[in-house]
Amino acid sequence: MRRDRYTTVAIVLHWLIAAAILFQMQLPWRFHGLKTPEAFALIQLHKSVGITILVLSLARLGWRLANPPPPEPEGLTVWEVWLSKIVHWGLYGLMIGMPITGWIMVSTSKTGIPTVLWGAMPWPHVPGFAAMAPAGREAWNSVAHEGHELLGWGFYVLIGLHVAGALKHQLFGRDEPVLARMAPGAKAGRWLEPRLALIALGVIAAIGGAWLIHPRPPASAPMPPPPAAPVAAPMTPVAPPEAAPLKAPAEPLFSVSKWNLAKGSTLGFSTSWGGQALEGRFDQWTADIAFSPEALDRSHVKVSIDLASVATGDPQRDVALPGADFFDVAEHPKAVFTADRFEATGPNRYVAHGKLTLRGATKSVRLPFTLKIDGDKARMSGVTTLDRTAFGVGQGEWQATDQIPAQVTVKVQLTATR
Ligand code: HEM
Ligand code: HEM
Repeated sequence: MRRDRYTTVAIVLHWLIAAAILFQMQLPWRFHGLKTPEAFALIQLHKSVGITILVLSLARLGWRLANPPPPEPEGLTVWEVWLSKIVHWGLYGLMIGMPITGWIMVSTSKTGIPTVLWGAMPWPHVPGFAAMAPAGREAWNSVAHEGHELLGWGFYVLIGLHVAGALKHQLFGRDEPVLARMAPGAKAGRWLEPRLALIALGVIAAIGGAWLIHPRPPASAPMPPPPAAPVAAPMTPVAPPEAAPLKAPAEPLFSVSKWNLAKGSTLGFSTSWGGQALEGRFDQWTADIAFSPEALDRSHVKVSIDLASVATGDPQRDVALPGADFFDVAEHPKAVFTADRFEATGPNRYVAHGKLTLRGATKSVRLPFTLKIDGDKARMSGVTTLDRTAFGVGQGEWQATDQIPAQVTVKVQLTATR
């Protein structure tokens, strides 16, 4: 029997892939050049759709090699047959080349943001790039980026030719049943062909859907109850100043107490991104504390923060923050705050005058805090603001403060025992 259409598997894959590509091609128009949380979420969606297209296209190609297409309908000219062959193979090239250049681009990107397909399935970077020298990686990145962009324009051209060809045979070729090969039952020469209308609707839905979709932007991390806090009581705000006497009378005169950080202490920061509040915290930090209200002149504190332990509630963003554009932990793994000048400003209220070294820059920082000592236990709570740009946190496009303001609020709440 002479087959006059593609196999059902080929047809299903053709339309699925076509819809995904039309959807996919819209997303860059929405995220290009933007640094907003929504753009970030759209790029993650673009990566998921793109890798899905890669998998489906490889399946489609494999199926095609095992199941050759039906013979060309009679009535096509030789050049039409050749042109369609060139366009079809060109499309296969792009269906595979586009996702591969995209995959190389994200695998060589400085930000190193991981790909998590559909928010759930981790997808590796292209192997080999991680071990490459930065210059080599950068070269690959720019080639892949250029390639991705160029192939993208190629897609516009080939899809245009492809659809024009399909429409020409459908609308003007009574004896050229081409559309029927991919849309079984379509009658060549018929303008009011229901299958054509269905395809048009599908195209509109795929394109429109890409403009209407609002993927969930990365979440913000609420300040957590840190894992199992056996020692400390839950963090509570320090009681109002009036509640306690000015001095802790039990303190032996002039001795400076050493304090050990208890579990339950938190170090967090808050800022915003694209107008949305963003809360983060550091999970690993240590503090050397020698402090007595009676011996402020000999009190000193050193806090050391492991910047790679940053957590903001979105795993992909948390991989970007330690990168060169933000904390640059490869060069500066820790931030260190030291203070050895303290000032009492009221009952249970103090100001620490110290220095913060972050990303290679050292700046003076003033940290007002409240402190309540209860026997051998102390609770401290302090808030200050920093100018992230003074430390170079946010390089390149992130230097601008339209998306992420310069001022970042830092909050420390600690419980310590002596
Ligand atoms: C937008 C993304 C699209 C892509 C990537 C794409 C890709 C392809 C490829 C690679 C083939 C060749 C199949 C093979 O021989 O193995 C094909 C065939 C075909 N496509 Fe598309 N297509 C797209 C959209 C469309 C649209 C919108 C239409 C209809 C208006 C259409 C109609 C057809 C038809 C009728 C064939 C069979 C042509 C023949 O047998 O000579 N395609 N398509
Ligand atoms: C068939 C699949 C794909 C199509 C049709 C497609 C299409 C496009 C287009 C047209 C652009 C805009 C190019 C520009 O102006 O820079 C773009 C950008 C981008 N694509 Fe894809 N893409 C696909 C797959 C992928 C995959 C699989 C990834 C990553 C895993 C990816 C990652 C990106 C990224 C990160 C950008 C932004 C580049 C920038 O910084 O401007 N793409 N894509």
